[in-house]
Amino acid sequence: MLRPSNRDNDSQGHDNALRAFDRSLEELGLDHLDLFLIHWPLPAKGLFVETWKALEEIYRSGRAKAIGVSNFQPRHLRRLLENSDVVPAVNRIEVHPYLTQDEVRAFGAEHEIATEAWSPIAQGKVLDDPTLNRIAEREGKSPAQVTLRWHVQRGDIVFPKIGDPEAHRGELRPLRLRAPEGDIGEISALNRNERTGFDPDRFNG
Ligand SMILES: NC(=O)c1ccc[n+]([C@@H]2O[C@H](COP(=O)([O-])OP(=O)(O)OC[C@H]3O[C@@H](n4cnc5c(N)ncnc54)[C@H](OP(=O)(O)O)[C@@H]3O)[C@@H](O)[C@H]2O)c1
Repeated sequence: MLRPSNRDNDSQGHDNALRAFDRSLEELGLDHLDLFLIHWPLPAKGLFVETWKALEEIYRSGRAKAIGVSNFQPRHLRRLLENSDVVPAVNRIEVHPYLTQDEVRAFGAEHEIATEAWSPIAQGKVLDDPTLNRIAEREGKSPAQVTLRWHVQRGDIVFPKIGDPEAHRGELRPLRLRAPEGDIGEISALNRNERTGFDPDRFNG
């Protein structure tokens, strides 16, 4: 994936965000982006609404085909929707069987904001889970395959990191199969609200 260097959290605020977008285009050598996101809400800074106004301008200019947010909780999304015109296309949040994110996903579904799951296999932490291993063994799949299937069947976009594409090449195949609803429910019940990353309500850059 192409990735500009200025993706961090010091670029919030209207003018900073416009400059960050220009720098991103320049570093990537592109004339537009398919999707541009606010990385974290950084609630203590109180700048995400102002930052979103800049993203709306970029979107209206056609230089980003879609704009969205990442790590936003319902209260952040609600504030954004009350103070803006463009609904985020996507909210990219940490989701995996140990952090099922029911509340923020439901809010997204209600407002047509797609949920995109980062750390979809919890950086490997779910791969030893007995329930996932039992289902995987029964289906002749790997625990990672079963987990990705769970995400897709719940309607989320998955954003796994694959350092070694050759090693994990076959892993996307099960996405074409449907898992029994009982499996989906059983995997969802593994939730323990356990994060691998920061808490969006507390992280402020
Ligand atoms: N928006 C945000 O705030 C945010 C925050 C954190 C992460 N992210 C992004 O989310 C993406 C994924 O998150 P992540 O890297 O934290 O976690 P992840 O995708 O849950 O886990 C990645 C790890 O899982 C391994 N893996 C991948 N597919 C596998 C498979 N089929 N079987 C066994 N192991 C497998 C990878 O190993 P190999 O290296 O061997 O392939 C890698 O070590 C990254 O691109 C990251 O940049 C976004």
